[in-house]
Amino acid sequence: MNAPDTPPGLAADVPPLDWDYARTAARRERFLAPSLRTFTAFERPLLLARGKGAHVWDADGKRYLDCLAQNLCISVGYDHPRVNAAIESQMRAIQHVTTMYYHPGPAQFAEELVATFPAGHDWVVHPVNSGAEAVDLAVLVARLHTGNFDVLALRNSYHGLHFGAMTASGLALCRQPIAGAPGYVHAHNPDLYRGAYGDRVDGYLDDLRRVIDSSTSGAVAGMLVEPIQGYGGVIPMPPGYLRRAAEIVRAAGGLLVVDEVQTGFGRTGETYWCFEQDGVVPDAVVLSKGIGNGFPLAALVVRRDVAESMAQRKFFNTYGANPMACAAGRAVLRVIADEGMQRNALEVGTLFGRALERAATHPRVGQVRGRGLMRGIEFVRDRATREPDDGSAARVQEGLRERGVIVGRSGQYRNVLRINPPMCVTADDAAFFGDALDAAVGAL
Ligand SMILES: Cc1ncc(COP(=O)(O)O)c(C=O)c1O
Repeated sequence: MNAPDTPPGLAADVPPLDWDYARTAARRERFLAPSLRTFTAFERPLLLARGKGAHVWDADGKRYLDCLAQNLCISVGYDHPRVNAAIESQMRAIQHVTTMYYHPGPAQFAEELVATFPAGHDWVVHPVNSGAEAVDLAVLVARLHTGNFDVLALRNSYHGLHFGAMTASGLALCRQPIAGAPGYVHAHNPDLYRGAYGDRVDGYLDDLRRVIDSSTSGAVAGMLVEPIQGYGGVIPMPPGYLRRAAEIVRAAGGLLVVDEVQTGFGRTGETYWCFEQDGVVPDAVVLSKGIGNGFPLAALVVRRDVAESMAQRKFFNTYGANPMACAAGRAVLRVIADEGMQRNALEVGTLFGRALERAATHPRVGQVRGRGLMRGIEFVRDRATREPDDGSAARVQEGLRERGVIVGRSGQYRNVLRINPPMCVTADDAAFFGDALDAAVGAL
C-alpha cells in the first residue's frame, strides 16, 4: 500500500489513519449514517489518498485523471501551492472569526468576487457554507423582497438536499417521501434531446407561463435555474432561454436566481459566469463548490436593494465568512485570473469535446453536449427510440476507471457520464482521456 505519510507535526496525538480498504468500508458501514450509502460511485468505491493538479492517487498508488473533480469542487487543481499557502497562513493567524467581529478577509473576498460580476448592479455577498444553504437563502431573500411566495424551478434540476433546496430539486431520486417545503412549482426543463417539447424552445417558455398561470397566485418570488443542469445530466439551457425566462418571471413580479454552483468561475470557457453567455443579468447568483477549491465555502451574490429587504431581522450563520474559507476563496480568484484558467477551460475543453464527438459515432451514444470543461455523454439502447442505457454508461464509467480516468454518472436515468476535470487540466490530459474513452466505448 502506498498511503501518504502523515505530515510532520500533524495529528501527533491522534491515532494514525488506517488505510486498509476493508476496514474503512466496515467502519463506514458501522459508524456513518446509512444515508451515505445512497451516494457512492463505482461498484467498488475508490479509497483516495492524495491529489495533485488534475490527478488523484488511490491507496495502492494508482493514478487517475480526475474528470469529476470531487463533483466540481476542485476548480484550480489539487494541492495548489497558492491556495494552500493562503489557507495555511490564515490558519496560523486565527482560525475563526465570527461575523460579529471585524476581520478584513470576508469583505476583501466579497470585493474581489463582485469584481467578476457584470456591471449594472450594486452587488453584495453573503458567504455561507454550502450550496443548499445559499439556495435557501436566495429563496428567503426573494420572498422578502418581492412579497411573493411561490418559487419556480425546473424539472430535472438539482439544487441540494436540505429541506427547501430539496423541494426545489426536480429529481425524484433526490426527494424524500415527505411533504416538501411549501410554495415550489416545477416547469418543464428545456431538454432539446428528450424534453416534453422536443427542440422547440418556445414550447418550454410557454410551459413556464402556463405554470405561473395555473400553479401559482400569478405572482412569484422568483425562479431558480442552473445554466447547465449538472447532476440532471449536463443539460445546457438553450440559447435565449435564460433571457426570455427572466422576462416572464420578472413580469410576474419575481427575481431570476441563477445557480452557478457547477457552472461558475470560468469553467464553461467563453465567459466567467455561464449566465453571461445568454446576455442576461440575474438578480441573485448562488455559488459553491469551485469557489473554495475543496474548502467548505459558498455564497449568495445578490443585488444590494434585494439584500436590504432582509436586513430588518437577525440573520447569520456560524461558519459563513470563516477567514480560512475566505482566504481560500481569494486565492482561487487570483489563481483563475493569473493562470489563465478560463481560457484553458475553453481551449482544453474543446479538445475534450472533440474526444466526445469521436465517441459519438458509437451506436450506443445518443448525444454529447456541454461547454468548456462541463461536458456529458448520453448512452441509449437505440438511437431512434432514445431509450436510456444506464448499463452502457456504467460499463464505460468502470472501463474508464480501469484505464485511469474518473468520470461521474448522473441524469434522471443514470445514463449520462459527466466530464468536468479541474480547470488546470492539459491538452495531454485531454488526449489521455480521448484514448481511454475510445477504448472503453469500443469495448461495449
Ligand atoms: C447546481 C447545484 N446547486 C446546489 C448544490 C448543493 O450544494 P451543496 O451540496 O453544497 O449543498 C449542488 C450540489 O451538488 C449543485 O450541483
